[in-house]
Amino acid sequence: MDTDNQIRLNLGCGARPMEGHVNVDLREMPGIDVTHDLNEYPWPWSDESISHIEMHQVLEHLNDHNRAMAEIHRILSAGGTAEISVPHFTWQYAFHDPTHQSFWGYQTFFYYVNRGGYFGFQFSQVKVRLEFGKGRALYNYLVEWIANRWPYLYESSPLRIFPAMKVYGSFVK
Ligand SMILES: C[S@@+](CC[C@H](N)C(=O)[O-])C[C@H]1O[C@@H](n2cnc3c(N)ncnc32)[C@H](O)[C@@H]1O
Repeated sequence: MDTDNQIRLNLGCGARPMEGHVNVDLREMPGIDVTHDLNEYPWPWSDESISHIEMHQVLEHLNDHNRAMAEIHRILSAGGTAEISVPHFTWQYAFHDPTHQSFWGYQTFFYYVNRGGYFGFQFSQVKVRLEFGKGRALYNYLVEWIANRWPYLYESSPLRIFPAMKVYGSFVK
């Protein structure tokens, strides 16, 4: 049986609830376990009560993404993990969607880890990767490899005409 701090959350799960997770969203939908507006703080979990969080394509919809990251840090137990993805700024839908409130690059997640001084909390580590849409765009396998090997080069050169779709962060508290 799960003890409190083995709870896994899928925040803003939408139509993609995950087995073994408490699936959370704003509105009631099939598969949702908890309805909560993530713009309302504090979130309804106590300090250090959660072992793992999945949160995909949600942070950019929230009014205060830095406050949300602080809340993720608060509710994760020591050594707890979070898989978080957001749209990369080269993806046109990062800007098309009028409900997006924040915009993200390869470096952004590192500000919550080792760029001390910005926030009153700090994760102990993060691994960041850029994920490209593939489909028929087989060249994106190569561009994705280059972009993850040399992210500064990718983001600051004409290479960015090949849009990265998502920034993924694997965080450890
Ligand atoms: C782009 S969808 C992503 C859904 C799912 N995570 C996925 O990867 O397919 C964004 C989701 O975040 C939810 N969301 C947006 N703002 C929210 C808020 N303030 N509180 C809770 N959920 C929110 C939306 O209802 C929607 O299901």
